[in-house]
Amino acid sequence: MRLKHCHNFHDFRHLAQRRLPGPIFNYIDGGADDEVTLRRNTAAFDTVGLVPNVLTGVADVDLSVRVMGQKLDLPVYLSPTALQRLFHHQGERATAAAAEKFGTMFGVSSLGTVSMAELAKKHANPQVYQFYFHKDRGLNRAMMQAAKEAGIKVMMLTVDSITGGNRERDLRTGFSIPFRLTLNGLLQFAIKPMWGINYVTHEKFSLPQLDAHIDMKGDSLTIGRYFTEMLDPSLNWKDVEAMVAEWGGEFCLKGIMSKGDAEQAAAIGCTGIVLSNHGGRQLDGACSGFDQLKTVVQAVGDRIDVMMDGGVQRGSHVLKALALGAKAVGLGRYYLFPLAAAGQAGVERALAQMKAELTRDMRLMGVRSLAELCPDHLSSVNG
Ligand code: LAC
Repeated sequence: MRLKHCHNFHDFRHLAQRRLPGPIFNYIDGGADDEVTLRRNTAAFDTVGLVPNVLTGVADVDLSVRVMGQKLDLPVYLSPTALQRLFHHQGERATAAAAEKFGTMFGVSSLGTVSMAELAKKHANPQVYQFYFHKDRGLNRAMMQAAKEAGIKVMMLTVDSITGGNRERDLRTGFSIPFRLTLNGLLQFAIKPMWGINYVTHEKFSLPQLDAHIDMKGDSLTIGRYFTEMLDPSLNWKDVEAMVAEWGGEFCLKGIMSKGDAEQAAAIGCTGIVLSNHGGRQLDGACSGFDQLKTVVQAVGDRIDVMMDGGVQRGSHVLKALALGAKAVGLGRYYLFPLAAAGQAGVERALAQMKAELTRDMRLMGVRSLAELCPDHLSSVNG
């Protein structure tokens, strides 16, 4: 299978699986415990059906949205995800460039493998900085300062990872950072020679957002241990209120699920929230962001921007979320598999397909602009 044969999420996933060493593919693909929430995320979109209108004159459709003070040409953004240069040597550089080409926002993770400052300098499109709150308050202050100096406009604090999710696939494969070639890893390396050659012939793996503060050279660290040992489990609303004030700009919380927390986020001055369960990688058994969208938008939608992510594989999934009041929708695995499969060309192909699906589905729904979408465009199917 080649890139030109990839027509949807599943095709890209398949190609990524063929190109990546098993431990890395499973790190991206997997979820926590029994992966119930991972599956729920996509299944939740099937609990409602789209109700189209016809004969509305849809020669021109406008796919742009405004979210977190930014204008995006598409209602989807590339969520911050960790370790991208491990998936493809172009890593975040490919993600940022593809996002720019499509006029949308991309995220850079605390666990990113390219510096947010380099990307901010190179790209004019909006960039989100995803923040993990560490026990080391000095590190937190330095990260915040670095984001300000880089000119980042949108801060996104992840709040659902206060301890590591139980990712049994990673336990089984021994996946850890910096990626260590264990015996099993070496075998994978031999089976996937192109990945291996690219990995060793390109810039050495690093975590520029953290390198100055955390010694990654000695012991290798699993993602679960990073969350559990380095992030601060005492983090509370007071701490976040202080962070929001210190940041003084667009600030959203990623990983909110309940109506009460959404109200609290609005009350302490957040300008947005992302309904998310971290792609089913943290609390298994959690509902999906889509499940909570209606309730949360009703509670705070007039005060802050409500976004969601998790399980999005189709343009129609995005339209359903927007009809329930989401301002924009985050993509994760949707662009990571294409990145792993073919670098920037892969991400661009996936975004082109998303754009084509959104355009086609808007026409079929009889809407010319995304703001026209409302709950009347949905009927409840079940659950
Ligand atoms: C993960 C983190 C690092 O889910 O976001 O693996």
